[in-house]
Amino acid sequence: MSKLRVGIAGLGTVGGGLLKLFADPSSRVNEKLELVAVSARNKSRARGADIGAYRWFDDPVELAGQGNIDVLVELIGGSDGPAKRAVETALGRGAHVVTANKALVAVHGVALAEASEASGAKLLFEAAVGGGVPMVKALKESAAGSRASAVAGILNGTCNYILTEMEASGRSFADVLADAQRLGYAEADPTMDVGGFDAAHKLTILAAIAFGTRPDFEHVRVEGIERVSLTDIRLAAKLGYRIKLIAKASLVDRGVEMHVRPALLAYNHPLANVGGSLNALVVDAEPSGQLTFIGRGAGEGPTAASVASDLIDLAEGRAGPAFGRPLTQLASAPRATPAERGRYFLRLLVKDRPGVVAAISDRLAHENISIESFLQMPVQDEPAVPIVLTTQTCARAAIEAAIAAIAALEVTTEPAYVMPVEQSGLRWG
Ligand SMILES: NC(=O)c1ccc[n+]([C@@H]2O[C@H](COP(=O)([O-])OP(=O)(O)OC[C@H]3O[C@@H](n4cnc5c(N)ncnc54)[C@H](OP(=O)(O)O)[C@@H]3O)[C@@H](O)[C@H]2O)c1
Repeated sequence: MSKLRVGIAGLGTVGGGLLKLFADPSSRVNEKLELVAVSARNKSRARGADIGAYRWFDDPVELAGQGNIDVLVELIGGSDGPAKRAVETALGRGAHVVTANKALVAVHGVALAEASEASGAKLLFEAAVGGGVPMVKALKESAAGSRASAVAGILNGTCNYILTEMEASGRSFADVLADAQRLGYAEADPTMDVGGFDAAHKLTILAAIAFGTRPDFEHVRVEGIERVSLTDIRLAAKLGYRIKLIAKASLVDRGVEMHVRPALLAYNHPLANVGGSLNALVVDAEPSGQLTFIGRGAGEGPTAASVASDLIDLAEGRAGPAFGRPLTQLASAPRATPAERGRYFLRLLVKDRPGVVAAISDRLAHENISIESFLQMPVQDEPAVPIVLTTQTCARAAIEAAIAAIAALEVTTEPAYVMPVEQSGLRWG
């Protein structure tokens, strides 16, 4: 049987890693596939592997439209622009697509799956979520016999690296971010990562597969890690918690609730010890029970290996529908935004005056909020003192009302910051 002919659009970090796999005769990717064409912006840039044997295209859309390839591997990035046009072109003419582009799949997943089903070409994106960790396939295939009720993960390695480093080194968010940018762990424009949007793209994809629903990126409530301070990390640690950026989707009230936000995790939470740039996913499913996946969520080698695994699936005839089921079987689940209840961590920067703490406690009590623990950061010669507290279970609306009442006291010097304390299970409390 003849080999599947592959064209790669994008030869950066991931594309370069894939070039190396194609250059390695012992890699399984070479058994049933053959790299024939490549595209990037700059033909003369060194790629870590010789590209002289492959046909070069300046334009990835032209590469995708070429009758000469059976599979387009899209590794350019971005939810629109040349990546989208190249993928649409390939699917439109019946060429399979393998991509690592979570933004594209999260935002345009339904339209791309429609194009794939219309032409019969497959659309695969294992590398788009969790880098080298097989989260997409695990949910699509291995967990298909169970019914998932919630998925929660640490899905952005940059944020996890920054939070881990802040805790370990005692340096500020801005300091660690600048370092991460210097080391190449963070983009020059870090908004997609630290703003939580990259994790939201990945969560959109995972929720669609886990719950059998249409991907709905617009529905994810997104909050990044920009406001997490060293004080929060230190005081949370004294209380027995670690702060992580958690991406979580749950089936509630027959709808889907999705959010990305920083949260406190007790040290025995399954995600609390996932450090550095690692990614992890916990799935609540029945009857399988809780499942946990962990590994390297980014980088040339792990991500290229996931792309290669999709290519091998294609070549061996194992590829199914993009989101695990045909589009007609994917429900348009109602968007749920349940009245949230739980325990919360509240940080306040208060003026150093007698009676302030009593006044704050009074406002919390007025909203029926019980304080579970309270800590004050010792400071010298500062006009304001950081205090943090955790609450017993209460309504989020009550916390917001108390924050408004505390602000009206004019005893704080900056807006209060609130984070949820995660339950050790994944369901809402
Ligand atoms: N990096 C990771 O660890 C990782 C992990 C998981 C998923 N992903 C996803 O994988 C995709 C690629 O990421 P990456 O980190 O490899 O990106 P990257 O290093 O920035 O590489 C992007 C590549 O696309 C090429 N390109 C950009 N615009 C182009 C255009 N208009 N026409 C042709 N080629 C163009 C660039 O060409 P030049 O080289 O000539 O400039 C470069 O080769 C993204 O969707 C990303 O989200 C990345």
